[in-house]
Amino acid sequence: MMIVDIKKCTGCRKCVAECFPRDIEIINQKAKIRNISCIKCGHCIAVCPANAVYSSEYDMSEVKNYNQEDFTIEADKLLNFIKFRRSIRQFKNQDVEDEKLLKIIEAGRFTPTGSNLQDVSYIIVKKRLPELRIKILSTLKQMGESYLAASNTQDGGQQTQQNTLTLPATTTAQQALYKRYAEKWISMYDEYQANPQANDRLFFNAPAIIVVTAQAAISGGLASTSMELMANALGLGVLFSGYFVRAARANKEILEFLGVKEGKDIISCLVIGYPKVRYFRTVPRKKADVTWK
Ligand SMILES: Cc1cc2nc3c(=O)[nH]c(=O)nc-3n(C[C@H](O)[C@H](O)[C@H](O)COP(=O)(O)O)c2cc1C
Repeated sequence: MMIVDIKKCTGCRKCVAECFPRDIEIINQKAKIRNISCIKCGHCIAVCPANAVYSSEYDMSEVKNYNQEDFTIEADKLLNFIKFRRSIRQFKNQDVEDEKLLKIIEAGRFTPTGSNLQDVSYIIVKKRLPELRIKILSTLKQMGESYLAASNTQDGGQQTQQNTLTLPATTTAQQALYKRYAEKWISMYDEYQANPQANDRLFFNAPAIIVVTAQAAISGGLASTSMELMANALGLGVLFSGYFVRAARANKEILEFLGVKEGKDIISCLVIGYPKVRYFRTVPRKKADVTWK
């Protein structure tokens, strides 16, 4: 519940104006939160000049008072930071501290979610990463074999079931792309088996991954982006593994291994470690496709 301390409330109405679900009224010159349509977004807490609003559910000790020095980033620096970010595929043989992983998750936790559902969950895999790696690689290999078999029998557009795998239906346009993936996934597995240390083309020998799950893809996706930037700020590198996501979604055994909760989907997999590569500059990109109306 959101609660107003009426001793502190001055009845200034700032919370009323800010409340998107219109759950606050002024009674006897004091704010009253009905807690009926409230989505617990906390705007009433943040906007109150008298600090009169609190939540009985959330930890109020983590609410921070604003000051310009600690809460602003210069725009060009932020843009440079975003431009210099790279997908990392060379990692040092060095552990990532648990505190850093938790700080990365903190960046996800404070990223907005649709309707403030806060429906994003995080699965950190470190100790059991070798076990998971081989499960993913062998799933990708099986997926590759299925796609190749389907493309040979001309039914690649159909939902394909093989062993325990559930593969999404593919359109004709996707089939050429999937064929390329299929060959790659098969060779990734074979090369890893031949020389695991030299040929980890899934996690690139990174020591940790964080799997992001959510009810809404957009919320999990936004959280993932904040997490990547936080990881970079901590001196770490990240690779988003789309291969991981495809394999995990297709294999129930992997979903069970990860303990993905009912109603949640795997949105992203952040492969995390200390980069063993140095970049001297940013990269060029296509011009932005922008329409003004
Ligand atoms: C959703 C998503 C999935 C990706 N999946 C993979 C992957 O499975 N393997 C990989 O090596 N790179 C993967 N990447 C990295 C992209 O190839 C990379 O972002 C792109 O080439 C641009 O490079 P940059 O991130 O350094 O700017 C993925 C990136 C995103 C955003």
